[in-house]
Amino acid sequence: MISRPIITKSVLLSAALFSIGVQAQFKQTPLPYSYNAFPNVIDAETMETHYTKHAAGYVSKLNAAIANTPLEKQSMEAILANISSLSTEIRNNAGGHYNHELYWKMLNAGNPISMSENLKNEIIKEFGSIEGLKSKMAKASADQFGSGWVWLIVSPEKKLLVTSTPNQDNPLMDVVPVRGIPIIGIDVWEHAYYLKYKNKRADYFDAVFNILNWQEISSRFKDALGTNSEEWESLEKFHEVMAATFHPVEKGNYSPLKLRAGELAKRAKELQNSDIPSSQNKTKLKASIQKLIMQTDLLEKRVKAKAKDAELKSLITNTHNIFHEIMGLCKEK
Ligand SMILES: [Fe+2]
Repeated sequence: MISRPIITKSVLLSAALFSIGVQAQFKQTPLPYSYNAFPNVIDAETMETHYTKHAAGYVSKLNAAIANTPLEKQSMEAILANISSLSTEIRNNAGGHYNHELYWKMLNAGNPISMSENLKNEIIKEFGSIEGLKSKMAKASADQFGSGWVWLIVSPEKKLLVTSTPNQDNPLMDVVPVRGIPIIGIDVWEHAYYLKYKNKRADYFDAVFNILNWQEISSRFKDALGTNSEEWESLEKFHEVMAATFHPVEKGNYSPLKLRAGELAKRAKELQNSDIPSSQNKTKLKASIQKLIMQTDLLEKRVKAKAKDAELKSLITNTHNIFHEIMGLCKEK
């Protein structure tokens, strides 16, 4: 679960933003079933160790790695979307936390649940049948060398794709070759199956596929179809200027920022007047856009006042963080 601290105007206007302490924000969701809920598929010892040791480790290391940094204020989706600029430690542990939180929800401890008609039709269209999807995912599981994950994702073009990632990477990260919104995520690390299945990953995969929670997956499919930040033209225009000013600053070149700070502020105001395409999170998005406007106005003012580079760097970095907060809200369930 993610909680966001409220950022007040006075905080936003403070150049000392990064020194503000915020308590660790990421937590494990309680398991929605007991450790021995799947006696024929996953043994209780594996489930308990997986949840209380492996998954618990990822979240505690993630919280330690982001403590007292601006990342504490970002959503998981925003962190993952910008993971290329962060450390390997954050990449492994943010991925580990997101992936496991998804995995627990993939498993259905109750009676079998059927999937939505929409999802079923789309699976049949793309893979021929549910068995066709299962075979494709089983192959991806077998082909994934070493530890990793197998996914069913909704691509930016709204197409269902089977993919896999190594280690704790996932399709929300800006470092993977095939990106999209995960609707199924299956852990194929040995720690997920070794006690019961030893080296027989294919048997584990087959058994887990048969207890998938299709209600949860159908709901994720519906949400993924409704997420269309790519079609938000004003956000794309803001992004163009953001990238062309922020990334040079990271390399010590302040000229583009000094030339285009006014344009950045103008694009932020255009966002406020644009149609937010998704009906989800509109209230939160509007609040974040307001923060973006205040921040870019301040940035423009400080550029005009010929503020020192260190201050401009702090302001553009914070602008970038708010931008990724908006991107994260667009992808959030
Ligand atoms: Fe795992």
